[in-house]
Amino acid sequence: MDQDRHDDLPDNLSDNQHFQDVVERVVSRRGFLKNGIGLGAAAFPAGPLSAFAKPAGTPALHQKTPTIGFTPMAVSSGDAVVVPSGYRAQVLARWGEALFADSPEWLPDGSNTGEDQARQIGDNHDGMHFFPLNGQSSKEGLLVVNHEYTNYEYLFAPEPGQPYLEPWTLDKVRKAQHAHGVSVLHIDQKSGKWEIVRDSKYNRRITGNTPMAISGPASGHPLMRTSADPEGVEVLGTLNNCANGFTPWGTYLACEENFQGYFGTTSGIDARDDVMRRYGVSPLGSGYRWEEHDDRFDYVKEPNESNCFGWIVEIDPFDPDSVPVKHTALGRIKHENAALTVAGTGRVVVYMGDDQTNDYIYKYVSDDRFIPGRKTANSELLDHGRLYVAKFSDGAVSGDFIGTGEWILLDKHANPILAADPRFVDQGELLIKTRLAADAVGATKMDRPEWITVHPGSGEVYCTLTNNSGRAAANIDDANPRAANSWGQIVRWREDGDAAEATTFEWDLFVVAGNPIAFPERADLRSGSEQITADNTFNSPDGLGFDSEGRLWIQTDGNFSNTGNYLGQGNNQMLCADPQSGEIRRFLVGPSGCEITGIAWTPDLKTMFVNVQHPGEVGNHPNRPVLPTGVSMDEYMAANPLAFSQWPEAAGGRPRSATVVITKEDGGVIGT
Ligand code: FEO
Ligand code: CA
Ligand code: CA
Ligand code: CA
Repeated sequence: MDQDRHDDLPDNLSDNQHFQDVVERVVSRRGFLKNGIGLGAAAFPAGPLSAFAKPAGTPALHQKTPTIGFTPMAVSSGDAVVVPSGYRAQVLARWGEALFADSPEWLPDGSNTGEDQARQIGDNHDGMHFFPLNGQSSKEGLLVVNHEYTNYEYLFAPEPGQPYLEPWTLDKVRKAQHAHGVSVLHIDQKSGKWEIVRDSKYNRRITGNTPMAISGPASGHPLMRTSADPEGVEVLGTLNNCANGFTPWGTYLACEENFQGYFGTTSGIDARDDVMRRYGVSPLGSGYRWEEHDDRFDYVKEPNESNCFGWIVEIDPFDPDSVPVKHTALGRIKHENAALTVAGTGRVVVYMGDDQTNDYIYKYVSDDRFIPGRKTANSELLDHGRLYVAKFSDGAVSGDFIGTGEWILLDKHANPILAADPRFVDQGELLIKTRLAADAVGATKMDRPEWITVHPGSGEVYCTLTNNSGRAAANIDDANPRAANSWGQIVRWREDGDAAEATTFEWDLFVVAGNPIAFPERADLRSGSEQITADNTFNSPDGLGFDSEGRLWIQTDGNFSNTGNYLGQGNNQMLCADPQSGEIRRFLVGPSGCEITGIAWTPDLKTMFVNVQHPGEVGNHPNRPVLPTGVSMDEYMAANPLAFSQWPEAAGGRPRSATVVITKEDGGVIGT
């Protein structure tokens, strides 16, 4: 089943201005099509190193343009990870692989139990971070990996003579819940090869059933109270952990994205309230079918359980007994990642995207200041602060930026619009209903905000807007430069005064993705300083991250049909961009049916970790078969698990999400 695609469907029916409208006006004002000058390239002057505090141990930024030295890769539709010559790619931590010395063996027919899965690596690897041991090791550390969701076609073994997924049991629900969550893996590099240290005290599985605390303004709120927790201060599990963040005090942030997909009802009645509708909770049965065996996922039986999801969860990887904390001050949305930076004042600033068609970009600013060191009081920085939502305008700006913007405060008392709105009795309720508050204040509807990353020197912020398929099909024409909306773009902004906590900013588009091969009439977009060429074309930028030397890495989660709008773009991929020159080169191509997501480095940048998520997902697979009437694609895939990918097993086997470890044969910095 295609559970990851909820984010394509709009739930935002408010009247707020769509980002597309703003872009079109700005683009026409600037003569984007007329003179063929790209919006992005060279629009940013090389930023001065601001008073931008960096986490301890971060290597100094090279102020000059970053070195990008590899030979660009061609596209591919094969079933392999390919990297440039001079680089090695090693597979680590496959779904189902042992995490502990006594973990049950992974069974290649999908017949492991729910209990087994709780002791094995989870499924659908997404965001991750490498925490060096001793604060600086590039040979040993804790790799923390999100497991966003799971593919039932591959997770379960078909039962002979039974229809697909039948009999549907509590153990299957538990197995699915345990395939979700987060893995903490102690890893080290010996003789050039990275391995899991299976007898380490640090190894940990966090799943859809791990006890968690709820902190911040919504903790204890009546809307957070459930049968299992009448006080509203705790919940079991974290779900749909898409991308991530990390803090300078050594903790990991797992972000809950499409949580709504786990809730449904067996009551037979669509009893959703406005909040459930705005977040897209299933009206009746959910695709995951947990509500059939686990009452907390039946929203009629437990109407507040879904309010306990959609948050950012802080995990201390160095303390395997620690209780993860859901920080409600950061808002409840379909979180993609959390890009945390420390302002010159010492306040912590967190940028966050809400990944859905026509949803918003948010920013959190802590009230108090970061105290260098590990954890202690710093976690509370994520409990007391101001949450803002972005409004992008096209007002004229002197200099190179093309638009202005403002951060609108989402505060029950300080924002008169929200103060007067009876739907938000207090700040806790406002945060539970973050999307509704953002609708009310006129935030700008974006083309599915995915990852956000902050340039380590200039503090400029980049955000992938992955695509907006619902609008693009009707809008592909020469007069509309946002026809590339099938392919997405990257927006960037600079806060006024280079102050991360500013409430106004200037913005432009770093790159408008497109396909010059399929659309030669759009050749104007490739001329001059436009960065997209026949050699680096891609669609649907999603994962995004600066390394500490300022290279911008772009990962894609898009259409891999290699036909039509996507002809010549091949499988999902990872590219490397120079934020100053705008040059973009393809670095890696993934196997069949996957997306590439999640990125982390050792401190010396000589090892890079990248995730291959859902290889073998059928989606728009070039080999997608036409099935006989009455046979569903899920059934077909369950019966033919090797049909669309056999990665990563050399000898063939059902497809498994996994981490890929990239090193350079000469031991150098990745990307140089
Ligand atoms: Fe889980 Fe928006 O990607
Ligand atoms: Ca995904
Ligand atoms: Ca994503
Ligand atoms: Ca995506």
